[in-house]
Amino acid sequence: MAKILILNGAARKNGNTAKLIEAFTDGAKHSNNEVQEFYLQNMNIKGCLGCENCSKSVKGTSNPCIQNDDMRLINEAFAIADVVVFASPVYFWTITGTLKTVADRLYAKLRNLGYGGFPRKSVLLMTAGGSDYSLAVRWYETFERNLGWKNPGEILGTGKNRAAFDLDKGKLIVRETTDLLILDKIKNPLCVMQSGSLLRI
Ligand SMILES: Cc1cc2nc3c(=O)[nH]c(=O)nc-3n(C[C@H](O)[C@H](O)[C@H](O)COP(=O)(O)O)c2cc1C
Repeated sequence: MAKILILNGAARKNGNTAKLIEAFTDGAKHSNNEVQEFYLQNMNIKGCLGCENCSKSVKGTSNPCIQNDDMRLINEAFAIADVVVFASPVYFWTITGTLKTVADRLYAKLRNLGYGGFPRKSVLLMTAGGSDYSLAVRWYETFERNLGWKNPGEILGTGKNRAAFDLDKGKLIVRETTDLLILDKIKNPLCVMQSGSLLRI
């Protein structure tokens, strides 16, 4: 059983990304994993100040950042998570600013114990109007690689001009993928969903 932390960077609470997350969560719970999701849009999380106080803080402290905001909740969940899921729609060819702000704020935890101090598995879940994920995937893979995280892959769906996914079909696909992903049987589960049907894996 894994503890899965989902960082949901979508603005729309019931949009395409939410549906992909729902399908992923369904799959993750189906294989007895614990899921905790943060809907970042509703949280009070400021940008990183770049002050570097975190690198001078006591090693292993639970909240090494001097800012006292909702990032504390995420830091607590991050400390015990086995898998971190970055979920976002594509906004101007990359992840949303909301999600990037939280990724920047993880810097404090990572600086405090060193980049190798939090080995994690992680997953990228994204939706888009089109199909160009290249910039977002490049950011994600660079982030993972430099932190020494294990990257089982990306699940990329397409919202097709905001049309809803066929959730039932999509759920089955993502659920199967999630089962395999959490069990680590798929090495690179890059899949693109279009209205619920699997285009590529
Ligand atoms: C500000 C903004 C920027 C966007 N930029 C892109 C983009 O660069 N490429 C793309 O394929 N879709 C883009 N989209 C479309 C969304 O990625 C797509 O509709 C997505 O599925 C929305 O997710 P949501 O329903 O969870 O909000 C953009 C949408 C918005 C609102």
